Parts: sequence; structure tokens; C-alpha cells
Amino acid sequence: MDKFGFIVHTVGINEFKKFWGLPGFIPGFLIKFFLKIIPPFKLSEVKQFTAKPGREIKGYFIGCPLIPEQMVKLSEKFVLKRIIQSAKIAERLGAKIVGLGGYTSIVGDKGSSVAGSVNIAVTSGNCLTAWSATEAVLSIAEKQKIDLRKSTLAIIGASGSIGSLCARRLSGNFAKVIITARRKERLEELRQEVLNSNKTDIVIFDDIHQAIKNADVIIVTTSAPEALIDLNELKKGAIICDISIPKNITETSKRNDIISFAGGLIKLPFEVDFGTKTGLPKGVIYGCIAETMLLTMEGNFINYSIGDKISLDKLDEIGNIANAYGFKPYLGEKNG
Ligand SMILES: NC(=O)c1ccc[n+]([C@@H]2O[C@H](COP(=O)([O-])OP(=O)(O)OC[C@H]3O[C@@H](n4cnc5c(N)ncnc54)[C@H](OP(=O)(O)O)[C@@H]3O)[C@@H](O)[C@H]2O)c1
Repeated sequence: MDKFGFIVHTVGINEFKKFWGLPGFIPGFLIKFFLKIIPPFKLSEVKQFTAKPGREIKGYFIGCPLIPEQMVKLSEKFVLKRIIQSAKIAERLGAKIVGLGGYTSIVGDKGSSVAGSVNIAVTSGNCLTAWSATEAVLSIAEKQKIDLRKSTLAIIGASGSIGSLCARRLSGNFAKVIITARRKERLEELRQEVLNSNKTDIVIFDDIHQAIKNADVIIVTTSAPEALIDLNELKKGAIICDISIPKNITETSKRNDIISFAGGLIKLPFEVDFGTKTGLPKGVIYGCIAETMLLTMEGNFINYSIGDKISLDKLDEIGNIANAYGFKPYLGEKNG
């Protein structure tokens, strides 16, 4: 039976304490110290399951004990070593592909070094994550009767792996696209690429707050380990999709006029016992895990969503595979 591995980590100190049932009084610095010295480990076994038209498969979650803040701040060499150790555990357990969850696909060269260090296929799952988020945005906009041809899309973190897929996939649908991130050169490259394929009005903004102020639809997909946007900054009736983990949005007072949802999630057509808590509603899973599962069910053991510039063809391909298996974009409880 084919197996997959998937590398996971907790998103912060509080989440770590909650996950392991630790008392709140343990100081954060102590936890961070231990996270640095604990080696990666097999966290859980994903019970075998069959999904038509694919084969029966099973998998393992591998815990990489660092939180996003550490993955961003510690030396890249150290963090990569931990991720490669995690991938090697998956390989030893017999997995033919390993998915890089959360920040493990962000550090360094977006999975390429990991792929070069193990003898199994590697994916970040970013194609299915971007597919799910963009499908969800289009579907919600249609339900809300928003005319995209007269609307502005803002993408925060547009030059990243997921952001760039979203920008390239959606830019032709909107009247205007605003892209933003910290480094301008990569945004300019993206802008040129979009302009080469369609005539969208695409502009670069330096300031996130200016970028979202007048946008009708916003996709947030940065690797910043903190909130960057307050929902109160959005215009009336806006739709906001936050793909980032940890979340990049916060809400200082309730906004009932806007639609805010976590993007990149997949509703499975059957229940899977992941052997551990995922923190998501039953039958819902992150796009990156779902992509790893789909590639395993397909027996497609190649490096998939790897590197900075992923081809849109791959997004379409994995989207078609998802449709064939009945994996659907999850729009959230309120909008589902
Ligand atoms: N929902 C899911 O299933 C799922 C699956 C996979 C990943 N994710 C999450 O999706 C997010 C993006 O992943 P990715 O692989 O696309 O990451 P990535 O390739 O590293 O891209 C991150 C983007 O964010 C920008 N950025 C980083 N810090 C910023 C800041 N402080 N202000 C503005 N822009 C900033 C980066 O550009 P600059 O560095 O130039 O600013 C880049 O454009 C992450 O939070 C990840 O955990 C979610």
C-alpha cells in the first residue's frame, strides 16, 4: 500500500500548550528552548482509506518542533536541517511522497533543498491551496452577485509561491489588481508576467493598508507570523480570504457586512482518521495535506509544488484531480 508523510508544526506558543495540554504558566522562552532541542518525531498515523477512483493509501504526520517565529528568526541552515530530518523520518516509514506543511515549505528555497536530500517525492501542496482559495473566491463573489469586471482585487503577499499562483490565475477576471509585499523587484516581475498574458490594470502598492482600503476582494497569503490587517480597514461589502497560517487578519470590532474566510481549505468527500487533532471542522483539511493525499492516491510520486515559480498548469492539473475525487474548496461554515 502506498504511503505519504506530512510535516506539521504548531503555529505559536499558546497553540503548542493547548495541543499538548500544558499549563499556561510555563514561560514561552522555556518552550522555545525545548522546541529547539527536540528532534522531529512521528506524530500520528493516518489510518488507511480508499478514495475512488484511486488506490488504498495511508500516511503519517511528522512533527517538526519549531514554531513559525523560530523558523523565520533562527538560522536557515538549522531550520532546514530540522525539516530534512522530518522528511527523512517519512522516508524511513516507507512514504513515497512527503508534504511540507505550513512554514516548512517557506524556509530556504521552497522545498528544493529538501527534495535534493531525500529519495522520495516532495510537495508543498501550494497548487491545491491556491486552487481551493481562488475557486472559493470566485464562488462567493458569484453568490454575492459581485461583478468582477468592475471590481478590484488586492493580493497581500502576491510575490510568494501561493500569492503568485492566485495573482496569475485571477488577474484576468478583475478590472484592477493591486499586488503588495515588502520586496518590489519580485512584484515587478509578477506584474510583467501578468501583463504578458492579459491586459489587466495591475499596480504595485507599498503600503498594505492603502492596498486594501478600496479593494472589493482581498487575498492575504504572507509568511508574516502575525496579524497585518484589521478587518475594520476594509470597505463595505468586501470579501477577504486569509490563506496565511498563522492568520494575518484580526478583528477589533464585529463587521457583519463583509465576508471573511480562511482560504486554502478542502472539504473531503469522506472522513479520514488523521490520528491527531487538526483544529479544523470534521471532514475539512488544509489544501497542502489534501494535495499530498491526492498525489499518493494517483500514484504520482514526483516533486510537485516546489520552488518559487510554480506553473499554472500544475494548479489546473491538481484542481482537475481534486474534482475527480470529489475534493471541494471549503468556503467556511457561514458560506459553505
Ligand atoms: N491554508 C493552507 O492550506 C496553507 C497551505 C500552505 C501554506 N499556507 C500559508 O500560506 C502563506 C504563504 O505561503 P507561501 O508558501 O506562498 O509563502 P512565500 O512563498 O514565502 O510567500 C510569502 C509572501 O508574503 C510576503 N511577505 C512576507 N512577510 C510580509 C510582510 N510582513 N508584509 C507583507 N508581505 C510579506 C513575501 O514577500 P516579501 O518577503 O517580499 O515581503 C511573499 O510575497 C503562509 O502563511 C503559509 O503558512 C497555507
